[in-house]
Amino acid sequence: MPSILILNGPNLNLLGTRQPEVYGRTTLADIEAMCRAHASTHGLSLEFEQSNHEGALIEAIHAARGLHGGIILNAGAYTHSSVALMDAISSAEVPTIELHLSNVHARESFRHRSFIAKVALGVICGFGAQGYILAIDAMRGHLERTE
Ligand code: DQA
Repeated sequence: MPSILILNGPNLNLLGTRQPEVYGRTTLADIEAMCRAHASTHGLSLEFEQSNHEGALIEAIHAARGLHGGIILNAGAYTHSSVALMDAISSAEVPTIELHLSNVHARESFRHRSFIAKVALGVICGFGAQGYILAIDAMRGHLERTE
């Protein structure tokens, strides 16, 4: 089974203390540990990254080509603004799941638009940290079906 890249965008390094009423109190390190534990029970290998920089996220997506079977991307606010990230996903041709902790559709209208969704395999949002586990399972199913 190919490995999975879990890529986190801007401000997600602050999880745990950032607007806990919206994003919960689980830190990104906690989420990484949860993901690694879940992946290991399924014999999956994964890489877990975070950057606040759009260019670094783009480079991580480019580098995933030929290295990872899938990407789980919480692009944070870049979801709603970045044509460049959308193009990177199209160019890399690595199946990508868009992920959000919060239910972006129940929030401000500027969060309803997603450039990532246009090129994503699917979208998971609103389940907090558990969404990362749901996304791993969804990607695992996709990779099993397409292997
Ligand atoms: C987020 C939702 C985005 O709208 C926001 O800008 C974030 C986090 C989420 O995980 O709920 O930074 O991607």
